[in-house]
Amino acid sequence: MSKPKVAVLLGGRSKEREVSLITGGEVYKALIQGGYPAFKIDLDENLVENLKKEQPGIVFIALHGRCGEDGAVQGVLEILGIPYTGSGVLASAISLNKVAAKRMFKAEGIPTAEFCALTQRVFKANRLKVAKELADSLGFPLVIKPASEGSTFGMSIVKDEKPLLGALEEAFKYDDEVLAEKFIEGTEITVGVLGNDEPWPLPTLEITHSREMYDYKAKYTAGMSGHIIPARISKERRERAQKEAVRVHRVLYCSGFSRVDFIVSSDGTPYVLEVNTIPGMTPLSLFPDAARAAGIEFPELIEKIVEFALEKRRL
Ligand SMILES: Nc1ncnc2c1ncn2[C@@H]1O[C@H](COP(=O)(O)OP(=O)(O)O)[C@@H](O)[C@H]1O
Ligand SMILES: [Mg+2]
Repeated sequence: MSKPKVAVLLGGRSKEREVSLITGGEVYKALIQGGYPAFKIDLDENLVENLKKEQPGIVFIALHGRCGEDGAVQGVLEILGIPYTGSGVLASAISLNKVAAKRMFKAEGIPTAEFCALTQRVFKANRLKVAKELADSLGFPLVIKPASEGSTFGMSIVKDEKPLLGALEEAFKYDDEVLAEKFIEGTEITVGVLGNDEPWPLPTLEITHSREMYDYKAKYTAGMSGHIIPARISKERRERAQKEAVRVHRVLYCSGFSRVDFIVSSDGTPYVLEVNTIPGMTPLSLFPDAARAAGIEFPELIEKIVEFALEKRRL
């Protein structure tokens, strides 16, 4: 069977543009290596014209964050009838909003840190009262984060009442919705998932770093973080996390691939932090490393993701 022409969609205007350019570049190289006629499209308002002109058989979405990972681009491709990699509109939209995703986890009994969601309007109406209520209901330490931002933008760990207001103000610079969640002490791990209707987990990957959080700098500076595969927790705990990752993939209607971030607490509970429906594919990224540990080299991984997209189309 001849290989379809693949458009690698990258860049865009989100805060994660730079990361997307690297992810997209790696994906493009792997596709060329695998014999696919691939080309790149930088996401802008000419997307529809560009796609109509080039007529790709499939689009590989290598975008992170808003307007790429949140269902917007997926919706455009649905309208145009062009197959695309990864999750559809619904899964993408829910996963990018940490509040929406956590509400789903709670409803399904998937462990996730206790949290409170806040809108800008409610916060602005009475900052002091809102901060006090948060502190009373969750206690400290807690983590403040914008609902729909990645790469730890606007996020902070708050240990007592004093910096709370400032942390909330900072997070609201990034989004109209913010969440406060309990800080979970434990081992930080991530689990990649592959597949559509019968998804399976990749090996657990433990993240080590010397910063307060696994933030932008820790993620994208060589040598600032480490990947340990499998995670240094018991086999039983690793398997539990893998099971939860697959459950998260299904519950959120993900397809093709996803990566679920957890903190495993001292009693072994894997608390889900978030789901990434388009995990990074840079040379420092987690997902390709976990795949390699499962015997799947990068070009093969990219080919699998393309095949899952075509399979979903045929179902
Ligand atoms: N509730 C929490 N408890 C402990 N650490 C957290 C918590 N939430 C986030 N972190 C830290 O912050 C990092 C980024 O958080 P995450 O929710 O995955 O957002 P994103 O990766 O989209 O920026 C995590 O990898 C972890 O190091
Ligand atoms: Mg994360």
